[in-house]
Amino acid sequence: MGSEHHLAEPKRMEMDEHIQGILWTEKEIADRVAELGSDISKDFQDCSPPLVIIGVATGAFLFLADIVRKITLPVMVDFIKVSSYGSGMESNGSPQICNDVKIDIKDKHVIVIEDIVDTGHTLSCLISHLEEKGASSVSVCTLLDKPARRTVVMKIHRGKFYRGFECPDNFVVGYGMDYAELYRNLPYIGILKPEIYE
Ligand code: IMP
Repeated sequence: MGSEHHLAEPKRMEMDEHIQGILWTEKEIADRVAELGSDISKDFQDCSPPLVIIGVATGAFLFLADIVRKITLPVMVDFIKVSSYGSGMESNGSPQICNDVKIDIKDKHVIVIEDIVDTGHTLSCLISHLEEKGASSVSVCTLLDKPARRTVVMKIHRGKFYRGFECPDNFVVGYGMDYAELYRNLPYIGILKPEIYE
C-alpha cells in the first residue's frame, strides 16, 4: 500500500509542471466556498424548502460537492450537462443541453452551480431553460467570473448572482476545470501554460 502512494507522486508533479502559476490555493478556495455557502444559507432561509442545487457537469462537480456541505438548508441536488466546448478552448456560442435535470423544479428555488462564466452563453441558455420549467427563481453561483470575455449579458430575472473570484483572462484548470478532460483533480486553480494547448 505504502509504495503505491509513493508511485502517485510523480504523476501529480507532471501536472504541476504544466501550470504557469497558481491563482487560488486549496485553502483560499475552501475559505471562499464556505463564505458563499453561508451567504446562500442566509439569503434563502425564509424561502420554501427545499432548494434545488443544479451543478453544470462536469466542471462544477467539486465546487458543488464542497458548497452543498456549507449550505445549512435542505437541498436537492441534480446535474445538467451542456455541450458548448467542442473545440476545447472556445465556446461555440450555441450551447446544447445534452443531459437535462431529472428533478421537477416547478415552483422551487433553483441555484445553478457553475465553475466559470466566460462568454456567458452557457449560463444565459441555462437560466432561460430552467425558468421555462417553472422554477420560482433561478440564481447563479459561479466560482470564477471572467468578465473580460463576456459577450452575452446574463439576465437573472428572479434570482441572485454569486461569484467566488474574478478571474483574469487566462485559460485556467484545476478544482474541477479541465483542458481536454485533464487537470480536474488538481486541488488548486492555476493558469495552464500556453504551450500545452497551442
Ligand atoms: P461560456 O459559455 O463561454 O460562459 O463558457 C462557460 C464554460 O466554458 C465553463 O463551464 C467552462 O467549462 C468553460 N471554460 C471557460 N473558460 C475556461 C477556462 O479558463 N478553463 C476551463 N474551462 C473554461
